[in-house]
Amino acid sequence: MRLILVGPPGAGKGTQAVYLAAHYGIPHISTGDIFRANIKGETELGKLAKSYLDSGNLVPDSVTNEMLKERVGQSDAAGGFLLDGYPRNVGQAEFLEGVLVEKKITLDAVLELSIPGEEIIKRLSGRRVCRNCGTTSHIIFDRSKVDGLCDSCGGELYQREDDKEEVIAHRLSVYAEQTEPIIAFYRELGLLKVINAIGEVSEISANAVATLK
Ligand code: AP5
Ligand code: MG
Repeated sequence: MRLILVGPPGAGKGTQAVYLAAHYGIPHISTGDIFRANIKGETELGKLAKSYLDSGNLVPDSVTNEMLKERVGQSDAAGGFLLDGYPRNVGQAEFLEGVLVEKKITLDAVLELSIPGEEIIKRLSGRRVCRNCGTTSHIIFDRSKVDGLCDSCGGELYQREDDKEEVIAHRLSVYAEQTEPIIAFYRELGLLKVINAIGEVSEISANAVATLK
């Protein structure tokens, strides 16, 4: 299975990706997670990416495309992969097409998570992420058992810099202007499937799997 998850910030891409990657036995490749791991590790890539992530702007394609190509070339992705947060503009979608042609492989589907704007703000402003293992929770919808601590590993929960209200608004406009056009791109290729991203996490996952069958 080679799958792309697309949808606005807070649609639940990361949440659904954890389930779908386990279900299909494929790696979950999130460009956002790779950037955040590099920022945490204070690598050269992390230093370059930090100001873009903090302000809600896209990291330049020249950096992101090479990083993605390298990641999908790793051995665990040979049997399939789930991309979360990539491609994020038409240039990246075209670049990915080139990578697929080079590797003589094709995508199975592009799954769009559809969600109204007001729900996005609630999800993002209440999201908390574990500093240690990256597990995501929510102060209302998916509360950790002990306030401020991760259920999976006990690590400290923090709020992403780009989940502050002023940055959320900017991320939504970046999505509308730069990312939404890839939906038409994949619709034309006959790969697009759209599902409703509102409801219980498990219902959405079940719907995703049924839609992909
Ligand atoms: P990235 O990390 O990809 O962020 P994003 O696309 O903005 O999406 P999010 O991670 O915010 O949301 P999500 O859809 O994963 O939602 P989640 O499952 O967490 O990118 C961040 C930045 O990195 C970009 O701004 C850019 O700077 C850079 N970047 C990344 N990729 C790039 C690329 N390709 N090119 C250039 N730059 C790039 O859910 C959100 C919350 O809702 C959570 O708290 C969760 O618990 C809760 N929730 C989930 N599902 C439900 C549900 N069904 N009901 C109730 N609550 C729910
Ligand atoms: Mg995410």
